[in-house]
Amino acid sequence: MSVPAHIEIERARIKKLTEREAARLNERTHGSRSFYERASRSLVGGVASSYQLRDPWPIYLSHGKGPRVWDVDGNELLDFHNGFGSMVQGHAHPAISKAVQERIELGTHFAAPTEDAIVVAEELQRRWGLPKWRYVNSGSEATMDAIRIARAATGRDTIVKIFGSYHGHHDYVMVSIGVDYDKIGDRLEPLSLPYGAGIPQAVVDLTVAVPFNHAEAMERKIERLFEEGRPPACVIMEPALMNLGVVLPEPGYLEAVREITRKHGVLLIFDEVKTGLCIAPGGGTERFGVTPDLVTLAKALGGGLPSGAIGGTEEAFELVDAEKVVQIGTYNGNPLSMAAARANLLEVLTPDAYAHLDALNEHILSSCQAVIDKYSFPGYSVGVGSKGCVTFSPERIVDYETFKANQDAELCELAWLYNMNRGIFMTPGREEEWTLSITHSFDDCDAFVAAFEEMADDLTA
Ligand SMILES: Cc1ncc(COP(=O)(O)O)c(C=O)c1O
Repeated sequence: MSVPAHIEIERARIKKLTEREAARLNERTHGSRSFYERASRSLVGGVASSYQLRDPWPIYLSHGKGPRVWDVDGNELLDFHNGFGSMVQGHAHPAISKAVQERIELGTHFAAPTEDAIVVAEELQRRWGLPKWRYVNSGSEATMDAIRIARAATGRDTIVKIFGSYHGHHDYVMVSIGVDYDKIGDRLEPLSLPYGAGIPQAVVDLTVAVPFNHAEAMERKIERLFEEGRPPACVIMEPALMNLGVVLPEPGYLEAVREITRKHGVLLIFDEVKTGLCIAPGGGTERFGVTPDLVTLAKALGGGLPSGAIGGTEEAFELVDAEKVVQIGTYNGNPLSMAAARANLLEVLTPDAYAHLDALNEHILSSCQAVIDKYSFPGYSVGVGSKGCVTFSPERIVDYETFKANQDAELCELAWLYNMNRGIFMTPGREEEWTLSITHSFDDCDAFVAAFEEMADDLTA
């Protein structure tokens, strides 16, 4: 499927504007530069996580309030990054701050269950229609434990994932992501490749990738794995990809995946670390109307505190219940995170909040599309719930292969610089999307669109 005719952007123009905007940003972020110089002496790369790296230096933040953040140079920015989608509530939300403050006075950790953990599980049960829940502290822990539960439930070792999908930093899933275009292998039977060093080959071999939006390829692969005597325990996937910009499931795809997995006795895990709580009260499960066997949550659950959860059917959790699968963690259900999650779920992310996010997103998506149409810009806007992006591609992105073949990394970098120099804090990296918060206004969205239009105008004038 092609998008309408577009103009060719001159590469020299992108380069020139990138140089201009990068110089401007450097000029405005001397404080971040000093922090970086100091940080580099103790923190590897000057950052806490490699996803915070940036050349020539990261932008160090000091604080946030509502839809805004401030960097250490005092630059005020409207936040569309929102902590990789964790802060859909906006920063320092009064209800969450109050809940956390009250909890701090009562003690923050016992490694014993508290009432808030029950209340949060009851609310997640209601939202996802899945009866059983457990907690963890991050998305990586959630997907790691969900995979172990699926392996135990099926007695199988192999797992299937979507090529290009990120599911956290543990070995099982650090496979077949971030691979260069010429290394993907056959489109329908892509290779299992480690994401970075230190992943044992034996683990890599247990993780098999299939393309997104291609149910037949998934079924063929599952059947092949049965023939080879290594049937899969689970398919782990995001219901909508959120790590290649935004890639929505084609109509009927998730239903077909549900049918295929059920038919072959393979557990379906929806990794809703990004989609969950951000695209509907019950995440992609509710939005797309397909219920998995297991679901993983993190990011937006804790309202800015580390937390994560795994939900599932009675059958999926049977062996955890029977203490055959050991699902544990000192900080699981931490009272501070649970207090924040309770306020987040019951007081902040209400039906009205989701209606507001939907209306905002519709507005920003259609306004970005209007700019694309006006300038015949190569790309399209796409999103769902609080999530969206402008995908700088002349072709529709449906999977990793089309993403890699068409995404324009230089344009993504330029767009990020334009945003930063015009008061818009956006997720760095071309795989990322915006997350709106419930504290954003239509005017805030218009500021984002204005920055994009300025870039489109400068590139096409
Ligand atoms: C879909 C998905 N799953 C899992 C994770 C891992 O979450 P965490 O960084 O909290 O470990 C991420 C993080 O970006 C994610 O996007």
